[in-house]
Amino acid sequence: MKTIFICLFILLTQRSFGQSPLLKDQFSFPLGASMNPRLLQENEAYRHLATTEFNSVTAENHMKMMMVHPEANRFDFSKGDELLQFAKSNQKRMHGHTLVWHNQVPKWMNEFSGDAQAWEALLKNHVQEVAKHYQGQVSGWDVVNEAFLDDGSLRPSIWVKNIPDYIAKSFQWAHEADPNAILFYNDYGQDGKPQKMKAILDMVQDLQARHIPIHGLGLQMHINISSNNAEIQRVIQQSSSTGLIIHFSELDIAVNPKNDSTFVYNETAKEAQKQKFKFIFDAYAGIPKPQQYGITFWNIGDRDSWLRGYFKRPKEYPLLFDDAYAPKPAYFYLTNTRKNEK
Ligand code: XIL
Repeated sequence: MKTIFICLFILLTQRSFGQSPLLKDQFSFPLGASMNPRLLQENEAYRHLATTEFNSVTAENHMKMMMVHPEANRFDFSKGDELLQFAKSNQKRMHGHTLVWHNQVPKWMNEFSGDAQAWEALLKNHVQEVAKHYQGQVSGWDVVNEAFLDDGSLRPSIWVKNIPDYIAKSFQWAHEADPNAILFYNDYGQDGKPQKMKAILDMVQDLQARHIPIHGLGLQMHINISSNNAEIQRVIQQSSSTGLIIHFSELDIAVNPKNDSTFVYNETAKEAQKQKFKFIFDAYAGIPKPQQYGITFWNIGDRDSWLRGYFKRPKEYPLLFDDAYAPKPAYFYLTNTRKNEK
């Protein structure tokens, strides 16, 4: 009994004195997570990990159009500001996500009708009000999110329909509002989709040729244990050879991508997931240092993952912390075993 108490004491004090290795201290680049203000407020275990393990914060939802601009003449920054406050008071970087997207658009925008000029005024006002509100307080913005389809064509959206050159314009407007922010184009699933990748590279070239400020590429990295490493490596290579800053912006590694209801998250699955995290971190370490913006996980514990909530996949375990917020094998690999750069 006595020994158990002593062990427990050592374990607890080690943690509270910060002697056990923490994720954020292992790498020469920022390590982030997307976060949710309600969980930060209500859940102590969540808040503890958010505070100790990460040094960069992305709002999972609360800086998106629907959240910050619920009505044509009303902005609501309250929840985004809560996250910013958390980041600030804990000396963490805040990353802005996202100014222009086809999803999570407020009803009034979807129903808006007006001529080309009116649409342009609407989007310009949105981009600039949000970027100005957070000016100097976020290190960067995902300016445009997921603009291309798998075949490389522009995704049909209210934006492209009403403002054909909306990508270039949005970057320009964001830059005017916050000249020091690092401006990203952010997208998913370029691996195994060469036409999508090519469209992104062509867009970068086109913007650069027109002197439109684009500084970075966000690779979301919503992948799974069977994703093809060579394909992912190619995407990283092609993205980083643009010379732009690279952010792995929404990392999660699904273990049960087919949503099999009989799936068991056993040691084999955990090991495969650990190997995939290893591959991702090794690949990121291969990007030239000046181009490393960091790696951001898409939330903290498995139970918080959008794969559970948004996609309704109850047997999915894509992150580093389990349902009780205990670290999983991939976490121990990253903090203890891996020879990190720092
Ligand atoms: C997701 C959030 O995680 C969910 O909570 C929300 O319901 C839908 O959006 N790509 C992105 C993110 O850029 O903003 C998305 O986040 C996940 C896919």
